[in-house]
Amino acid sequence: MDPLTLLRPDLDQLEEYVPVQPLDVLAREIGLPVERLVKLDANENLYGPIPEVVEAITHADLHIYPDPGQAALREAIAGYAGVRPEQVVGGTGADDLIDIVLRLVMPKAVVNVTPTFGMYGFLAKICGARVIDVPRLEGFAPDIPGIRKAVEAGARVVFLTSPNNPTGTSLSEAEAAAVCELPALVVIDEAYVEFSGHSLTPLLARYRNLVILRTFSKWAGLAGLRVGYSLSDPELATRMMAIKQPYNVNVAADVAARTAIAHRGVIRETVAAIVAERERMVRLIAELGWLEPVPSEANFVLFRVLGRRAKDVRDALRKQGVLVRYYDRPDLANYIRISAGRPEDTDRLLAALRNLEDA
Ligand SMILES: Cc1ncc(COP(=O)(O)O)c(C=O)c1O
Repeated sequence: MDPLTLLRPDLDQLEEYVPVQPLDVLAREIGLPVERLVKLDANENLYGPIPEVVEAITHADLHIYPDPGQAALREAIAGYAGVRPEQVVGGTGADDLIDIVLRLVMPKAVVNVTPTFGMYGFLAKICGARVIDVPRLEGFAPDIPGIRKAVEAGARVVFLTSPNNPTGTSLSEAEAAAVCELPALVVIDEAYVEFSGHSLTPLLARYRNLVILRTFSKWAGLAGLRVGYSLSDPELATRMMAIKQPYNVNVAADVAARTAIAHRGVIRETVAAIVAERERMVRLIAELGWLEPVPSEANFVLFRVLGRRAKDVRDALRKQGVLVRYYDRPDLANYIRISAGRPEDTDRLLAALRNLEDA
């Protein structure tokens, strides 16, 4: 028999999530060695993990299953985030927590405040939910009345992001609180909060329907290990713990995350260096006169491309080994997003942009 006839028909036309390609594949395609590539397309920490993390993984008990209760991890994260361990749930990256929240609610509809991170809409569709897009207003501010209307139309989960990917813009506490007043589960994704320095966690004391997501992928340079977490009301956390895959945080990720927290002072130095480099990149690029930055609080900047096609800019940079993110969608048609890296990465980026001007 044809096994495809057994599958859910609503997934036939699922629009694929477009992830970044592995470096070796890209290098082969571009025809440059991996070490010549400047990877400014996925908001990773190009300083990489600190040596203490690598050392800790080397000595981890890799032959033993991880603790499904995540006791040590939840305690360490609680200390780091300023909450109680019962409020924390660890996951295979923040992506896993998005999925857990969705499966806990199985909403008929969710709110996506566009443009934003693609995983909310992608995972919502896999859960069978309708995705109600609420486009951002001037300056990429969230449209709070639009969100309210979508909740009134039946959405039970609202995804917000602060700072938002790809705009780099943060939510104010008043905006977040206004959404938390709505009868929906409100997920605020703070994947980039370490670069902005201001978190919405104080709202957890006021709103039991708020779930905050965080990750070690960005600030701690652990994207490849896949470890993130949620902060919420303890009862909600208990329900999330109950349905997660028991071993969703692997032993290496667990020990890496706890070591990163223990050595957060050192990692914060690279975070500060990346923020400083973001500002230098913006200053130098603005001088070119044809890339207009959106003010960012994250480790990347969205630029509006003036007088050229954004896709052509992405392609021309790619040929020179500099990878930036381009979005093939109408609301971002003339934008590219560039991650902040190390000083040498910015230098290569600027040289490639100047070459492009000369061409
Ligand atoms: C807003 C946002 N949330 C979550 C993630 C994914 O985080 P993780 O690597 O922890 O799954 C990303 C990654 O790009 C992101 O931009």
